[in-house]
Amino acid sequence: MSLEVTDLVVRIDGRTVVDGISFEVPDGSRLGLIGESGSGKSLTALAVLGLLPEGAVANGSIRWNGTELIGLPDRELARLRGDEIGIVFQEPRTALNPIRTVGRQIAESIRIHEGIGRREARERAIQEAARVRLPDPASIVDRYPHQLSGGQRQRVAIAIALACRPRLLIADEPTTALDVTIQAEILSLLLRLVEEEGMSLMFITHDLAVLAQVATHGVVLEDGLVVEAAPVSTLLTAPTSPITQGLLRDATATLWRPEGGRR
Ligand SMILES: Nc1ncnc2c1ncn2[C@@H]1O[C@H](COP(=O)(O)OP(=O)(O)O)[C@@H](O)[C@H]1O
Ligand SMILES: [Mg+2]
Repeated sequence: MSLEVTDLVVRIDGRTVVDGISFEVPDGSRLGLIGESGSGKSLTALAVLGLLPEGAVANGSIRWNGTELIGLPDRELARLRGDEIGIVFQEPRTALNPIRTVGRQIAESIRIHEGIGRREARERAIQEAARVRLPDPASIVDRYPHQLSGGQRQRVAIAIALACRPRLLIADEPTTALDVTIQAEILSLLLRLVEEEGMSLMFITHDLAVLAQVATHGVVLEDGLVVEAAPVSTLLTAPTSPITQGLLRDATATLWRPEGGRR
């Protein structure tokens, strides 16, 4: 199942914020969208998911497995989200419901998508909690989001995103709000799960060091335009656009062995 975005334009209240971008996420591949804040990364992801904010309009083409998503009815898009395309956002606190146990939130998506009963759903929630390496899964499912650390909450968000075994995971700066050591743990968890499931990954970041760890190809955005698209190894060693060169300078402090392979 592949994602093909062609000449995507997003306008908000008449202002063009994504200006005709094209890229592809072939089955089983890992693509990074990278750019400075405000370059249009999140709106691109939201357009794919059919979750654009009020006043925003998408034009062009977004094909998922051959199906055009632009103009698809909300009900169809809602089914795709979770079932076939999973989402993880930057801030796990806002993605989770504060007054529901994490187990119920993990189970909810499974119940909606697979129609299983309450008891079975709790068992599945425990399994999913273990899968994202949450400590003591059988009891953590009965806790509330505020009782968890930031890293644990992001693990819950990942468990929710992956509970229905989507074929594509879209992760929008999933580690930006976390401490550096926790970031590394979450990135390696995401990669392990993506590999285990053979999922595709569309990963959004402003940090080339992070991109280098998770993606094989990168698309560089500036003001809603693609300024460079290349294998990550090329972006790291021979970036052609000033934007990529700047991102590389910013990342150099945290980059380790840029020539040392995909992670
Ligand atoms: N809900 C919104 N209403 C108006 N403008 C928005 C909204 N969301 C984003 N924008 C604008 O669209 C541009 C791209 O935003 P975004 O895709 O969020 O950038 P990024 O994720 O790369 O930081 C920015 O100029 C931003 O200010
Ligand atoms: Mg963003």
